[in-house]
Parts: sequence; C-alpha cells; structure tokens
Amino acid sequence: MRTGSRLRRSVSFLALFSATIILSPTLAAADETIEAGRADFERHCAVCHGINAAGNGPLASYLIRKPADLTILQKKAGGEFPGDLVSAAIDGRADVATHGPREMPVWGYRFRDTPDRNPEKGSADQRIRAITRYLESLQIK
Ligand code: HEC
Repeated sequence: MRTGSRLRRSVSFLALFSATIILSPTLAAADETIEAGRADFERHCAVCHGINAAGNGPLASYLIRKPADLTILQKKAGGEFPGDLVSAAIDGRADVATHGPREMPVWGYRFRDTPDRNPEKGSADQRIRAITRYLESLQIK
C-alpha cells in the first residue's frame, strides 16, 4: 500500500519534471518568436497601425483608408484568432496579383526582395509568422 503510493508520487514527480524539461525550450522559443515579431512590428507597422496596434499611427491620417485596428482581429472573427488570414493580409503577395494596388504595403516582397531582407532575421515567411504571433498576443478578448 504505502510503497504503491510512494511509487505513484515519484512517477508523477518524474512526469512533472520531464514535462518541465521538455516544455521549457518550446516556451522560450515561443517568447523569442513573439519578441522578434514585436521588433518587426514596431519598426515596420507602427507608423500606420500605431505602437499599440490600435490603428492610430502617425501616418494614419494621411491615408485614404484607415489602417485596421489590429487588436480586435480575434473579436471580429468571432473569438478565434484568424492567424492564416492575418498572415496572408501581411504577406499580400497573393492579394496584389488579383486585386491591384492597395494602401497596405506588401510585406511578402518587402521582407524578401529589398534592403529589409535580412537573412539573420529569418525568411519572409518566418518573419510574417512571428509578427502574426505577436499580433495574436495583443488581442483584446
Ligand atoms: C502605409 C501604412 C501601413 C503600414 C506601414 C502597414 N499597414 Fe497594415 N494596413 C494598412 C491599411 C490602410 C489597412 C486597411 C486595408 C487596406 O486599405 O488595404 C491595413 C490592413 C492590415 C491588416 C488587415 C486587417 C483586417 O482587418 O483584415 C493587417 C493584418 C495588417 N494591416 C497588418 C500590418 C502589419 C503586420 C504591418 C507591418 C509588417 C502593417 N500592417 C503595415 C496600412 C498599413
């Protein structure tokens, strides 16, 4: 009896211990991704969308279309963050071919083909994914 419960306790301790070891690098990597996304957002997006992503950056009043409030994307989508749509909106490469010019810059090209292209920051797709993760972390519930 007593040996059994002690064994059970060691087993659950071991499970907790290995979960901590297995999960912590994953969590650290997620933080890093969000951090990289925040840096890119502040550098490239905040001028229009605002430092808090609420759509009120210094350039906003010069645009014909108001930059979207990026903190309510989840709310607008009915409670689930529409990550793929957001990434596609940022990337823009597919959009532009079919819809012509738009006020929102096409970051898929920008991160790929211009001086903003920086292999140390990862591929265009990785950077867009990181920005998407960062935006997800800002959503108002
Ligand atoms: C020059 C100003 C400008 C910059 C810089 C800019 N955006 Fe936008 N963004 C807009 C405008 C304006 C819209 C509204 C849609 C349109 O007119 O094309 C928009 C729309 C969006 C949307 C779609 C929102 C929705 O409701 O579907 C997302 C997502 C987005 N921007 C993310 C970003 C990210 C991320 C960056 C930086 C990598 C960025 N934007 C940089 C102006 C800008």
